[in-house]
Amino acid sequence: MSEHERLVQLGLASGALAGQAAVVTGAGRGIGYEAARALAALGAQIVIAELSESGRAAAASIQAAGGVALWIQTDVSDAASVAALACQTREAVGPVDILINNAIVAPVIPLLELETARWDQVIAVNLRGAFLTCRAFLPDMIARQGGVIVNMVSTDAMPGMAAYIASKQGLVGLSQSLALEVGDQGVRVIAFAPGMVDTPGIRDVSVRLAPRLGMTPEAFLSATLHPAYEHRLMPAADAGLATAYLVAKLTADYHGEVVNGYEVLERAGYLSAPGVALPTPVAEPRGAPAAVSLPQVLALIQRLQAILDETGAEFDKLPVFARPLAKRGFKSKSGRSLQVWAQTLTALHDRVKAGDSARLQAELPGLQEALERLAVYYHEVPQETARFTRDAEVLQEIGRIAAEREGVIHDLVNTVATLGGDA
Ligand SMILES: NC(=O)c1ccc[n+]([C@@H]2O[C@H](COP(=O)([O-])OP(=O)(O)OC[C@H]3O[C@@H](n4cnc5c(N)ncnc54)[C@H](O)[C@@H]3O)[C@@H](O)[C@H]2O)c1
Repeated sequence: MSEHERLVQLGLASGALAGQAAVVTGAGRGIGYEAARALAALGAQIVIAELSESGRAAAASIQAAGGVALWIQTDVSDAASVAALACQTREAVGPVDILINNAIVAPVIPLLELETARWDQVIAVNLRGAFLTCRAFLPDMIARQGGVIVNMVSTDAMPGMAAYIASKQGLVGLSQSLALEVGDQGVRVIAFAPGMVDTPGIRDVSVRLAPRLGMTPEAFLSATLHPAYEHRLMPAADAGLATAYLVAKLTADYHGEVVNGYEVLERAGYLSAPGVALPTPVAEPRGAPAAVSLPQVLALIQRLQAILDETGAEFDKLPVFARPLAKRGFKSKSGRSLQVWAQTLTALHDRVKAGDSARLQAELPGLQEALERLAVYYHEVPQETARFTRDAEVLQEIGRIAAEREGVIHDLVNTVATLGGDA
């Protein structure tokens, strides 16, 4: 399918970005190149801010496809080079509307073997580079009350990649802070985590990273993070498409947020959103028990403690890239981390056992509210799981387990409500 056909499939008109100028750093290959190609197909004039000679061929290939593209050899980590980029860009295409901070270096070196100079280089390219380009191109955006900055970010943790991950998490902070700074000046700032994408960069990385994760490079490169990409990573062209769709269609929806590529492609209708037709388990409505014995309450608390242990073990079985996402999702939805939940339940268990009704009374409203949030988390687990698998049997089993867990929490909410006075 041609780039044009793919864009039409997403409901994007070929002139959607006509008259706009875009700078894409590190666009000589990989996601940056594909993003530049897709933005050019939408009519944007492209500046490829790339250090390596690959920038020349990338620009030529976009031109050959009918786009407007120019390579300005740039080292994004170098202030003078970025100043020259800003100057030449202005002369060539005028003020910039779209800035994609994409250039990286990503060495896989254990922290104890990492030279200070290498650490500095990673931070300089991946983080200082984004700062320098933002500072260079932002004034024109603010002056014209419009523009979008997309900063490419990544996952939460990888062994042997502390410098890269630190730079990317720094970039999340930069994006969020900048979003607040320019909030009312018409400029959108988005941190974009494209997903696991098949690029020359990740292929290089996989050779040294996969063994650290206990995998072969082949297994690493065939991880499934969305059912549409079974046993393969997202093709770089799809990540480019997602970037272009985000810029052309979704900037009104995001500002200062971390957005992921699968979500964008689902919103575009390019990937089918999994689990839409999946029945969510609804726990049986359970009224407040008439009389609750102390052992019954303690048993419910212990069962919930076991559920949280099971949940932790389930997180540990996920692919390494999905683990932080799952843990973060748990914490943000349930309001607490697994560890804090464990402490909460231990304290509750002790108070109930000791008959500390005064403290129970005082803590009850907060506790019930927190437990309700936890129940909502388990209620949504089947839908979330459907993002990763379409195996009907697995989903059915997950639905059954989630409903049981939700039921335990509702029972506990109801029983603790009876405790305050007589425990
Ligand atoms: N590939 C993935 O799975 C993945 C996952 C999460 C995030 N990302 C992010 O997406 C972006 C692109 O990743 P990719 O895999 O396509 O990368 P890649 O390594 O394939 O390409 C990076 C490009 O940056 C260029 N570059 C390096 N140093 C530069 C400098 N000083 N100045 C200008 N250009 C320079 C390189 O020459 C190269 O063309 C990165 O920001 C990365 O963190 C990628």
